[in-house]
Amino acid sequence: MTESGHLPTPDISHLSSSDYLKIYEPAEDSFLLIDALEKDVNFLNQLRPTVCLEVGCGSGLCLTFLAQILQTKALFIATDINPSAVDICQKTAQQNNISIQPILTDLVSCLGDRLEHQVDVLLFNPPYVVTSSSEVGSHGIEASWAGGVKGREVTDRLLPYIDKVLSKTGVFYLVIVKENLPDEIKDILGRDKFHCDVIITRKSGPEHLSILRFQRRHSDCNS
Ligand SMILES: C[S@@+](CC[C@H](N)C(=O)[O-])C[C@H]1O[C@@H](n2cnc3c(N)ncnc32)[C@H](O)[C@@H]1O
Repeated sequence: MTESGHLPTPDISHLSSSDYLKIYEPAEDSFLLIDALEKDVNFLNQLRPTVCLEVGCGSGLCLTFLAQILQTKALFIATDINPSAVDICQKTAQQNNISIQPILTDLVSCLGDRLEHQVDVLLFNPPYVVTSSSEVGSHGIEASWAGGVKGREVTDRLLPYIDKVLSKTGVFYLVIVKENLPDEIKDILGRDKFHCDVIITRKSGPEHLSILRFQRRHSDCNS
């Protein structure tokens, strides 16, 4: 615990301003996700997760934090479309004596069926800013924020995988802004299938950020 009563955040002193020209510099959204994980620390430890996945890991800060607060050993997998993020995530894990397997891929595509009903904790802080569709799809720093229509073009491509990859008791943490229309996200995932809790909401400048946590209503997957 720090003096302020918070769990310590990972050491990212190895990162410099030149890294942040290539990858997303942890910001209010990243720290809000960390705060949500901290708030859920008892819940997460009771789940006894064995496979944790962060999609769009960037610096690796959030997944490293999750690894630090869990009391059980688990496999930590990170994906990113940006090759520099994959390298830097590995360095962040090493800097904090954590083992993470970073993979360069679009969302979870290279993991295919291997993760079917295996993921106990899934994190995604997506590119959520409303932009034109033509800005979406870069493999560089622009991929950090450009979310296209409703800021949802990347998120919406991940949603069909959630039911497939989450384990029976798996949880999915998603960072959103108001413009992403969270009610539509709940409809897409299926309100009868997934229960959604808003773990934290915070206003940061023009952004109204929230962390949503989805969990199956019934343990009806086949794992
Ligand atoms: C808002 S940043 C979040 C970074 C980090 N998770 C954090 O919270 O600080 C979004 C991340 O998603 C990655 N990303 C964007 N599109 C992606 C895709 N199709 N597949 C995998 N990662 C993607 C970006 O490269 C970027 O690292």
